[in-house]
Amino acid sequence: MKKNNNNNIKLKGTYEEVMMPNYAPADFIPDRALGSRVWDKNNKEYIDLGGGIAVNSLGHSHPILIKELNEQANKLWHTSNYLANEPAINLAKKLTDLTFAEKVYFSNSGSEANEAAIKIARKFHHDRGENRDELISFENSFHGRSLLNISLGGSENHKIGFGPLVRGVKHAKYNDISSVESLISNKTAAIIIEPVQGEAGVYEVDQAFLKSLRELCDENGTLLIMDEVQSGVGRMGYLFGYMKYDIEPDILTSAKGLGGGMPIGATLTKNNIAPSLSTGTHGSTFGGNPIACAVSDKVIQIVSDPTFLNEVKQKEKLMMSALSDMATNTKVFSGIRSSGLWICCDIKELDAFELLDRCYENGLILVTAGNKALRFAPALNISEDDISEGLENLTKALNQI
Ligand SMILES: Cc1ncc(COP(=O)(O)O)c(C=O)c1O
Repeated sequence: MKKNNNNNIKLKGTYEEVMMPNYAPADFIPDRALGSRVWDKNNKEYIDLGGGIAVNSLGHSHPILIKELNEQANKLWHTSNYLANEPAINLAKKLTDLTFAEKVYFSNSGSEANEAAIKIARKFHHDRGENRDELISFENSFHGRSLLNISLGGSENHKIGFGPLVRGVKHAKYNDISSVESLISNKTAAIIIEPVQGEAGVYEVDQAFLKSLRELCDENGTLLIMDEVQSGVGRMGYLFGYMKYDIEPDILTSAKGLGGGMPIGATLTKNNIAPSLSTGTHGSTFGGNPIACAVSDKVIQIVSDPTFLNEVKQKEKLMMSALSDMATNTKVFSGIRSSGLWICCDIKELDAFELLDRCYENGLILVTAGNKALRFAPALNISEDDISEGLENLTKALNQI
C-alpha cells in the first residue's frame, strides 16, 4: 500500500505475529467510524457499504445506541444465569410481541442460535418418545463455523480436516421441493433454511417452494427452522424475512444485525416447543448479557418502525438502479441480485478479492460472496449521499481494471 501507510502496516505486522491465520484481513486497520464512514489508522476515509457483513444495522456509533450502551454499562454488566436481568426480559418481550414467537433463548452469535435451534428440535421429538434425529439443510447454505453448523452448511471446503461431523444431516436442493420430498421421512427432526442464501450470493427462496416446504413439514411432523441470522432485523426490508412470505417457521434464529454491532444471538419459538429446552438442558455464560440486550432493544425499536423498513426498500431501488447502470457501463458484472439492502454483484472475470483490494484503495469497504461476487449489506439507515459517494468510489475501482 501507500508510503504514508505506516500506522496501518505496523499494526498489521503485529497482527501477523500474534493472531491465528484463519482470517486474511485488509492491510488497513479501522480506527474509528461514524454512520457509514470509517477512518483507518492513517486517517484515510472509507464509505462502508459492507456493514460488517450485515451487522452494523444502524451504522457505526449511532447516538441512541451509544447512549443506551453507556447507561447500561453504568448500571449492570453481567449477572450469570442464576439471576434474570431487565434488558433481556424487555428484549424478549419486544421480539415476541413483534413476531410469530412466544419464547426466546439468548446466546452470543448466529452459530450458537442455530446450535440451540437444532438441540430444541431434536429434544422436542425425544420428549414425545419419537426416534427422530435427522436434519435437512440445503446445498450452498451457510449456518456458521461450529462443528454442527459446518455439518449443516453446504460448503465442502468448510468441512475439510474437521471430521467426524455431526451425523444425520442431509442436503436438499434450494428451491426444489422434490429434492426435499426425496429426503424427508418420519426420522426428520427439522429442516433448516435461510430465506435468502446470503453467503452463497443473495439467492432468495421462492414463495411457492417455501409454502410447499411448510406443508411438507406439517404433513411429516418435522419442525421448520428459519436461519435469519443474516436476513433478519430489517435487512430484507421486513423486520424478519419470513414476514415477506406469509409463512411462519417453528423456530427462528437471529444474530448479526440484531445487536447493531454488539454480540448477541437469539433463538425464537412457540409455546408448544419451548418446554423442550427445560431447566438445565442448555445454556450460555454470556447469553442474555444486559449490555448486548439493552442495545439490541433499541435496534429492534428503531428497525421495526414501518417507515424505517419502507426506506430500506427505497434505498434498495436506488442502489439497484445505480448498480445496473454501472453493470452496463463497465461490463465487469455478469449479474445483480437484491433482497432489501442486501445486494450481490457477480463478477465476470476478476477475482472478487482482487476487486475488493481496489475498492479499499478507492475508499470503499465491501464484502465478497465466494471469490466471484461482491456483496453489499450497508447500514439500513445509510444516507443517499453516502450511497452515492460509495458507488462513485466503486466506479473508480472498476475503471482501474
Ligand atoms: C445465515 C447465517 N447463519 C449463521 C451464521 C453464523 O453466525 P455467527 O458468525 O455469528 O456464528 C451466519 C454468518 O454469516 C449466517 O450468515
